[in-house]
Formats: sequence, structure tokens, C-alpha cells
Amino acid sequence: MKRAFFLLLCILVSAYSCKKTETPAPEKTTVVFKHGKIAGDPALFQELLDEFERQNPDIDLRDEALPASTDEQHQFYVINLEGKGPEFDVLSMDVIWVPEFARAGWLRDLSHLVPEPQREEFFPGPMQAVTYREKLWAVPWYIDAGLLYYRKDLLEKHGFEPPRTWAELISISKAITAKEPDTYGFIWQGKQYEGLVCNVLEYMWSNRGNVLREGRPVLASPENIEALGFMRDLIVRHKVTPELVTTAIEEPTRHIFGNGNAVFLRNWPYAWNIFEKEGSAIKGKVGVSVLPAFEGGEHAATLGGWQLGINRYSRNPEAAERLVRFLTSPSAQKTLALTIGYKPTRKSLYEDRELRAEQPFIAGLYDVFMHARPRPVSPYYMMMTQAMQPEFSAAISGMKTPEEALRDAQKELKRIMETAE
Ligand code: GLC
Repeated sequence: MKRAFFLLLCILVSAYSCKKTETPAPEKTTVVFKHGKIAGDPALFQELLDEFERQNPDIDLRDEALPASTDEQHQFYVINLEGKGPEFDVLSMDVIWVPEFARAGWLRDLSHLVPEPQREEFFPGPMQAVTYREKLWAVPWYIDAGLLYYRKDLLEKHGFEPPRTWAELISISKAITAKEPDTYGFIWQGKQYEGLVCNVLEYMWSNRGNVLREGRPVLASPENIEALGFMRDLIVRHKVTPELVTTAIEEPTRHIFGNGNAVFLRNWPYAWNIFEKEGSAIKGKVGVSVLPAFEGGEHAATLGGWQLGINRYSRNPEAAERLVRFLTSPSAQKTLALTIGYKPTRKSLYEDRELRAEQPFIAGLYDVFMHARPRPVSPYYMMMTQAMQPEFSAAISGMKTPEEALRDAQKELKRIMETAE
């Protein structure tokens, strides 16, 4: 009996191990992809990642979202990349970080992914942003530029055209909000963070101001003082912007406008898809235009957007490259534009018939992206922005006069530029 039992056990064990060796589990390479929280419906983004896994059955893709704020993402990367960790392979980088990360030696050289003749296919701004010492350290994924969203229905109802100047924006806001209860005039991002710098620069540039001229800081110029003072005036003097913008980032402002509670909104292109979704309170009622300028100044939009790079310490660079190629391909960029509203960095997609039919304003965005203005392209940009953010915020919230704030920021920028080189 004991023997029979032993025999049976042997048969069972060998059958089991036999089965195991017959169908060995396929070895999959894991690729960890880090990126900021996806605005809108994450399920639509997941579909694109699922498609990548279908096309690459040997890859197990782990998609790990970081917070939406660019400053928090930057902090995460600095800590982890400084520690030389291989915990993630592909990372999505803000347009302002690439020179810093490349200089620190945290990225793999990706020049071969976009050989010289193909670089023309991308908008020049992001291409410049991913180039450091003549090499490419990332591939442009989607592009951003500041836009003015307006309530087409309300402007039409009250007989207005979209404003061309900041002064017009004020008068239209005042006229409409006087007649439409529970509606703010103009909402934008005024919290102390990177988005504030993007907003402030649009006023400065549209008033002929700048941060640097020939590499030297020129922040405390009369044009910039007027521009920053104007932003504070929107809140306290003209009262077309509520005080709450001084603590707002993109999404809360998108919600206010999206709920039908504002006439104008400054935001990036992604917001349009959300406004036009089934069930949106303002579906079909939104117009998009370039941001206004000061009298005699030029319209200016800050260049934003995200680029895909590969961690220098990745253990799976070949698989990681496949993901970067896939997500930056024309077809993935088109899907992202249609589903989530992230705009392609590849110029030819602005001619795409389906995209133009779905999002008629995309044709006009081509020029906006061609002329969008970069924040200073420098490995030291994060130091510069950290000097500007608290000063801009102090002026917007009335803690300092614009002159004081810009004089202090200017001093700090000068110090950074002198010690950086
Ligand atoms: C968007 C832009 C990015 C910018 C950020 C500021 O994500 O693409 O470039 O730095 O907004 O909040």
C-alpha cells in the first residue's frame, strides 16, 4: 500500500514537472513608463498602451502616473535619477528639463531614433528643446502652447468678436459679466508654480518684454513691470479675474470654465477635447484663439509640451526604445490628439483630414506652435524658474509691487547666471 502510494506520487510529480518543461512561461521584458497624470479619460490612454503590448508581446508594460504638476514630477526625477536607480525605463519630460537632465548624464543618447533628415518633421521649438551639445536626448511627444478659450455663445449673444488686445478682453469681460450672473470674466493659472511663469511670460512677451537678452537678465524692464502689474490689476482694479486664480493650476481653472462659469480661460490645448465631450456643460459653445497682446505688442504663447527619454540606468534600453518609437509615431500621435487632445509634435498631422474634421481649430494651431516662445533653453532653467516663481507670485497676490518683485528676481537671475557657467 505504502509502495503503491509512493509510486502514484512519483507519477504525479513527474507528470507535473513534465508539463512545466513542455510549456515554459515566455520571458517578458518589463518596461516601466513614468509620466504625469493624464488629463481627461485615462481609459483612452490605456487603449493606446494596450495596443503597444499587442504589437510587442514580449514586453510587459507598466504604466506609472506621477502627479499632474510639472514641479512635483521634476522633484521625483531629480531624486531618483540622482540615485542612479533603474526603477523606470521611459520618462516623459517637460520641454524645460531636457538640457538639465542631459547635462547631468541621466539620459541615453537617442540621436539615432530621429536621424538628421527626419528632424524637420517636428516643430522646431521642441526639437531645439531636446537637443543638447548636438545630440538628441529625447523625442518630442506632444506640444503645448498657451491659448485663449472663450464662450462663443456669450460673445455672439452680446455682439462681441474675440479680443485682440488685453484692453478689449477687459471691456468684453466687464460687459458680459454685468449681464450674466455667476460668471467670472477671465480665469488663468496664478499659483506659485511653473504654470505661473508660463502665464506671466505671455504678458511680458506681448508687451515687448523678455527674461534674457543676449544671455543677460532683463527682467526688471519697464515693459515687464507694466505686464506683471497688469496681471495684478486684472484682479484688483478691473475685477475681471477672481482672487482665487492666485492659488489655481490648470485643472481647477479648466473646471470653472468647463462648468460654464467664466467667459475667458487661458489654458493649454488639451482642455478643448474635454469641453467638447458628450455631457459637457459647454459643448459646442467654445471658441479658441491666440492670446491677446498689449496695444502695439505681438501675440505670444509660451511653448510647452512633453518629450520621451530613456533613463541612462535602464536595464532594458532596447525595449524602452520600442515604446518611445511607438508613442511618438505619427499614428500614436494622431490617436492621442483624437482621444485625449494632446497635440502632435509632427507637423504633417496638421494636414490630416480626419483630425481637421474632428478638431477644426487644429489648422490654426500650426502657426501658434511654429511661433510659440520657449522659456530660456538652459541646463540652469530650473534654478531660474525657482527664482522667478516666488517673486511673480508675490506681485500677483499683492505682497510686493511689481517693481520690487522683478528687481529681486533680476538680482537672483544675475547671481545664477554668474555662478552657473
Ligand atoms: C504644461 C506644459 C508644460 C508646462 C506646464 C506648466 O504641462 O506642457 O511645458 O511647464 O504645463 O504647468
